[in-house]
Amino acid sequence: MPATRKAYRAAILHSLADPAEVGIDASYEYFEDGVLLVENGRIGAIGHARNLLPTLAADTEVVHYPDALITPGFIDTHIHLPQTGMVGAYGEQLLDWLNTYTFPCESQFADPAHAAEVADIFIRELLRNGTTTALVFASVHPESVEAFFEAAQKLDLRMIAGKVMMDRNAPDYLTDTAESSYAESKALIERWHGKGRLHYAVTPRFAPTSTPEQLTLAGQLLAEYPDLYMQTHISENLQEIEWVKELFPERKGYLDVYDHYQLLGERSVFAHGVHLCDDECARLAETGSAVAFCPTSNFFLGSGLFNLPQAEKHKLNVGIGTDVGAGTSFSILHTLNEAYKVMQLQGARLSPFKSLYLATLGGARALRLEQRIGDLRPGSDADFVVLDYHATPLLSYRLQQARDIAEKLFVLMTLGDDRTVLQTYAAGRLVHQR
Ligand code: GUN
Ligand code: ZN
Repeated sequence: MPATRKAYRAAILHSLADPAEVGIDASYEYFEDGVLLVENGRIGAIGHARNLLPTLAADTEVVHYPDALITPGFIDTHIHLPQTGMVGAYGEQLLDWLNTYTFPCESQFADPAHAAEVADIFIRELLRNGTTTALVFASVHPESVEAFFEAAQKLDLRMIAGKVMMDRNAPDYLTDTAESSYAESKALIERWHGKGRLHYAVTPRFAPTSTPEQLTLAGQLLAEYPDLYMQTHISENLQEIEWVKELFPERKGYLDVYDHYQLLGERSVFAHGVHLCDDECARLAETGSAVAFCPTSNFFLGSGLFNLPQAEKHKLNVGIGTDVGAGTSFSILHTLNEAYKVMQLQGARLSPFKSLYLATLGGARALRLEQRIGDLRPGSDADFVVLDYHATPLLSYRLQQARDIAEKLFVLMTLGDDRTVLQTYAAGRLVHQR
């Protein structure tokens, strides 16, 4: 790659720490008139324009956005590629929704041409919404992972994905076997894990759709390769929880099933966790596991309200997930708007700086990638977004009334969506222009 250097001048904001740990004021850094220097795909420097501009080499191109905010790219810790074509399917809760809409839609991914077409749409949608890293469920077909990684690699994106492992309680046309899921996952790991900025996630769908044999082999894969991810679902829906008790009567509860098969750990991400008890939160935290908070999905499927204060009490790592297609939007901004309402309904608040943290550095920590992404410190990957203060007439008018960055940030999250994202950069390269 030829040496590149370019600077971006705008308002710049990024998280430095979790507001729950250090307080709001120490949790972020803000430059009203800032400069972000990008060199060879990494952040070279960040600072006030008045300090940094005079130090730049004379031939450095400076792009100026007088009415925009630069933040790190958003991190989506839970989303389903093969559900892109079924977002907004009417009327069911989790288990009926899976059988009625999800499984038929996912069956189409046996066709590599279909998988490639949707992978392209899916990645474009992520980037249009400012998401530069996602932890992605593919379908049960290895073809779906191939298509996704091929498309992500072309743009040098930092992405994590895995083939669904599912060998029972699903239609025959969509199940693998314990052995085939192990062999197919292994082949994908060998081919993709650690290639460029790509990582592999062992992906048992959820406890009800895997036999004990399959869960054992999922644990074995994690033991065989360093730094693999594990993603699955947990405690999303009350009927689902009862079903898990029936299927695994010898286990103490839902989390204990995953614990027994050694699926907890620092790179394990459990989606939803709406109905976790204190003991389960404590065990997740103790093992360094993370939970993906997916508010639009939890509303849409009527699953319940995620208890963020409980997670904070246990110092549990939490990221934000869109969970498309049970989730109804690819937009992390829109998802944060819904997260705020989840907190309101529980008599709590979600500060805009906590939201920013969850969508960026908190997500990176949940994925153990905070040395690479999630903030704009020198050395980090240059994955960032440019948010347009004039994206819509209402946003423009409303932001003129805003007194400070806290209010601007909250309004961006409350009114913002894909239109707000003017540009998205990945490894310093422009990958979306509105
Ligand atoms: N639990 C098992 N599979 C799924 C899925 O595809 N979406 C959601 N929201 N929950 C699940
Ligand atoms: Zn999901």
